[in-house]
Amino acid sequence: MTFSVTQSGAPCGAIVEGLDLTKQLECSQVAALRQEWLRSHVLIFPDQALSDDDLERYSLYFGHFGYDPFIAPVDGRDHVIAVERKAEEQAPVFAEVWHSDWSFQEVPPAGTCLYSIKIPPLGGDTEYINQHKALAEMPAELRRKIEGKTAIHSARAGYSPDGYFGDEEQEADRSMRIIVSEEANDTRRHPIIRRHPETGVEGLFGCFGYIIGIEGMSDNESRDLLMEVYNWQTRDEFVYRHQWQENMLVMWDNRSVLHKANGGYDGYDRLLHRTTIAEQIVA
Ligand code: SIN
Repeated sequence: MTFSVTQSGAPCGAIVEGLDLTKQLECSQVAALRQEWLRSHVLIFPDQALSDDDLERYSLYFGHFGYDPFIAPVDGRDHVIAVERKAEEQAPVFAEVWHSDWSFQEVPPAGTCLYSIKIPPLGGDTEYINQHKALAEMPAELRRKIEGKTAIHSARAGYSPDGYFGDEEQEADRSMRIIVSEEANDTRRHPIIRRHPETGVEGLFGCFGYIIGIEGMSDNESRDLLMEVYNWQTRDEFVYRHQWQENMLVMWDNRSVLHKANGGYDGYDRLLHRTTIAEQIVA
């Protein structure tokens, strides 16, 4: 079975139609999807009525499951987590900041799959920004400042006991199964300008947030530079804004895009199931 691909018209994102993801895909289809994923960075599959089994099978076409350190899986699954917010929930929206998933790991995940089960009638979009384009169009003077520099990544601001999710009062009514842990204080280093492990294309990897410093620079110096990079890499001209419908699967490439959730749906439930795809190519 062939499938059609329609580019979103934004700097990343393409809609894939003509496949039934409840059925086993052929090797040639998976290979073709992989090429589209590397080209468009974010693939969108509307109108897919998937079970968790289907979501897992689809994810495994692209690599092993990644390790999700700070979110417990849904009951009965080891590798599916729920991104959930209830209508009456007061806790802040999860992941409402730009990030590349788990960029603080030694080998960060290649991709993420997110499948929509319950979508509010308004709000709750997910935004993606193309970090290959952001680097390609970066002013030479800013690029010179980050060339050869190594970023220090950590989850401490989010998931350590002193971090954002460690605030018990704020977290009291959160539906998501966040795990706060000392492990979040670990740090890992990755080049700020990184070659995509599969395509070799250079891009910006990660951003201020999970990046907490730059090797060899003082806190003040690195914060100023990281903010300058952040202001560039999150410009509107690099963004694809995804509007969800129920039964949609989105798969993105954490090596070439940043993403963030958006609120604006207080009073409505929102539920998606997520899997993480590990990196296969380790330098
Ligand atoms: C995520 O970062 O996985 C969540 C995105 C969203 O809820 O829109």
